[in-house]
Amino acid sequence: MTAYMPLAVPLYGEEFAADPGSVYARLRAFGPVAPVEISPGVSAYLVTDRQAALELLHDTETWSKDPRTWESGLPPESPVKPMMGWRPNALFNDGPAHRRYRSVITDSFSRIEPHRLRQQVAEIADRLIRDFAATGETDLVGQYARPLPLVLFNAMFGMPEKDGPRLVAALGGMFDSTPENATKANEDFGQYMSELIALKVEKRGDDLTSWFMDHPAGLEPEELVHEVVLTMAAGQEPTTNLISNSLSRMLSNPDYYSTLSNGALTAHDAINDVLRNEPPMANYSAHFPRTNVHFHGTWIAADQLVLISYHAANTTPDVLSGNGGGPRTDGGAHLAWSAGPHSCPVKQPALLIAITAIERLTSHLGDLELAVPREQLQWRPGPFHRALTHLPARFTPITPQKTGVTPWSSPSPSTRQAGTSTESPRSSASGGPRHASYSPAT
Ligand code: HEM
Repeated sequence: MTAYMPLAVPLYGEEFAADPGSVYARLRAFGPVAPVEISPGVSAYLVTDRQAALELLHDTETWSKDPRTWESGLPPESPVKPMMGWRPNALFNDGPAHRRYRSVITDSFSRIEPHRLRQQVAEIADRLIRDFAATGETDLVGQYARPLPLVLFNAMFGMPEKDGPRLVAALGGMFDSTPENATKANEDFGQYMSELIALKVEKRGDDLTSWFMDHPAGLEPEELVHEVVLTMAAGQEPTTNLISNSLSRMLSNPDYYSTLSNGALTAHDAINDVLRNEPPMANYSAHFPRTNVHFHGTWIAADQLVLISYHAANTTPDVLSGNGGGPRTDGGAHLAWSAGPHSCPVKQPALLIAITAIERLTSHLGDLELAVPREQLQWRPGPFHRALTHLPARFTPITPQKTGVTPWSSPSPSTRQAGTSTESPRSSASGGPRHASYSPAT
């Protein structure tokens, strides 16, 4: 466990959620590295400077991703354990072990054809829009941005369409504020994972789970489960936030508002603006020094937790363009995907998913607008994400009788499979991974 740091600034409360910018300004007064608390009693250092962040993320000799020594000092029920605890997957391992785990993910995603993915996202978007189109109002987090990646993952990992709502209720339900509901959601997710693996052990398909199983890395059953869980969990939260944070900006800025029909700024602009100025993952990239280090003016003990603030690093004063805080369209370097060997391996598909989801929504609901001013939106507390609690919006209701392209008129081939459709399902009777169970909170 970490040494007590008397000046540590809390990142978990309402104050940080309501106005992270002023907290980052306070943190910058410490220099490039600042003491923070990510949960009561759990201290860390946060790197807020862009150059220092890049240096750390590329220096694998000094810094490790393995949390096991640090984690051994955490209380067993610590709420940060699910995000920070070691598992046999890409996120928590270094060197050759990391490369092996990561290759399973990158090779499998490289099999997904972008036009097929775009079509899948469009179909799922239309399905979700159909559910609220006739009402004229919606919560774009709860009814759109949160379920969309999960319904998509349900299809990409090869579960039948009917199981999509289960995954939405389970993984989406972990954000529920009551501990009982969150515990139930956790158990349901474990059950979903067991059924998914059992299904693919019995019969492979053209889906990510089958490709993970048959990858030359030869994942053991337990590793397989943790790689699938990592990919779903790492994809869900930031993709939801990328879609909803971008929509909140588009729907509150007249330059975007007019683009729903004819203006100058597009969904790409909103996404670039969010990636730079309000990254979906605000602070993460947990690292631990292998020995005591003196890093940009701060002594850090071996195995102390150090996090990167993508948000603070992106908005380090010397990288601001001085354009008065308006949306940026330059697409230049930012750290929203992190950097170095652990940077997001699914960046291009994630961008395609977010852009397609936003374009589909705004093209079907042309007069979509926020139901409350953006300044009144609530942000979910927590040190790692920049996430809206709700995004209430209204629009002129539409029904299946509407003419032209509508959420009911789009082509809807099956969304059950992820990829190329060039392979036939095969049995895993010989040598496939055995059934492994998932225990989320270990
Ligand atoms: C389909 C959606 C996505 C999937 C499946 C996905 C998957 C992953 C995986 C597996 C990792 C771990 C890589 C490693 O350790 O080698 C990762 C890392 C990361 N991803 Fe993504 N991701 C998705 C979307 C996003 C989005 C939208 C963002 C934010 C813009 C994002 C930001 C990050 C960051 C910052 C990391 C580094 C985390 C760390 O090192 O602690 N990802 N992602």
